[in-house]
Amino acid sequence: MIILAVESSCDETSVALVKDGKDVLSHIILSQMDIHAIYGGVVPEIASRNHVVHMTRVFEQAIENSKIEIKDIDLVAVTHGPGLIGSLLVGINAATAFAFAHQKPIIGVNHLVGHLYAANIDNDIKFPAVALLASGGHTELLYMKDHMDIKLLGTTLDDAVGEAYDKVARVLGLPYPGGPIVDELALKGVDTYHLPRPFLDKNEHNFSFSGLKSAVINLVHNAHQKGEEVRINDMCASFQASVLDVLIEKTKHAAKTYEAKQIILAGGVAANKGLRQRIAKEIPNFEIIIPKMEYCTDNAAMIGAAAYYQYLKEGATKNYLISGYSTMPFEKIT
Ligand code: KG4
Ligand code: ZN
Repeated sequence: MIILAVESSCDETSVALVKDGKDVLSHIILSQMDIHAIYGGVVPEIASRNHVVHMTRVFEQAIENSKIEIKDIDLVAVTHGPGLIGSLLVGINAATAFAFAHQKPIIGVNHLVGHLYAANIDNDIKFPAVALLASGGHTELLYMKDHMDIKLLGTTLDDAVGEAYDKVARVLGLPYPGGPIVDELALKGVDTYHLPRPFLDKNEHNFSFSGLKSAVINLVHNAHQKGEEVRINDMCASFQASVLDVLIEKTKHAAKTYEAKQIILAGGVAANKGLRQRIAKEIPNFEIIIPKMEYCTDNAAMIGAAAYYQYLKEGATKNYLISGYSTMPFEKIT
């Protein structure tokens, strides 16, 4: 089954052609990162406008690179949330217009489910699995009982991890997005600032990162007021050590509690080198699968991968009235 998948929930315009949920035939990602970096974060209106400018070209290029003829496409899949509404609607409109014009069935795919299925492109998810989904907008521990049967174990009560990385980077004068650069500098520093490990002692699966972020901001401001130097590499190492202690411990606890056969790391923060290095060592008795770097951050291949399993479970329609959703919460485990 050949699926044409479209992703535009934030600041990446992406189209992919994916065969049977696994085989990525072509994949174009046009990132607007450089544009938003000037503003220190994603500006929704600018993101939408750029999706409008680039969507058609990205669409055409993905189809051309796949060497697939339009008549051979079986299904169109598009991210319908959660995300920035203006951005989502550009992808939804393009996908719907294409599907309608060529009379293909279409389905809306949850962006977060897409992040999880990125792990299924080069591996096979084994159930039950526990997934840590950490990105700029989300920090979730999820239980995957089977394909497309996903429940929420815990989430952040305030900031998402990626968001905390981005804010810490900003106060340290580092460029946006903060995650990759803080990760890079952390590997050169030492955890000398001993920041708090939020919620580490709590026997539950929720997170909180805003206190940790504020601790960094306060230390930096105090240092500036006293004319003292902030050791940037050590601050990055200290922040990253706190974040990873919490993420790894809670993931381990969830995997044990729910007797997971596998742990999945997904979302932009799964690209974190420190996390990738530490998690296998610190959770040795579980198989851990992490998507390839290019499938960790936002992309359409993961939407095509998820769409295949969603189609097997729910089918698709030629109902072309797909709406966009800014939030799409997972059902809590009972
Ligand atoms: O999944 P994603 O591309 O977009 C969202 O759906 O949010 O994730 C982007 C987030 C940003 O906050 C970025 O700083 C973070 O992922 N990120 C990282 C790393 N690479 C990207 N965070 C920590 N370490 C990294 N290496
Ligand atoms: Zn994402």
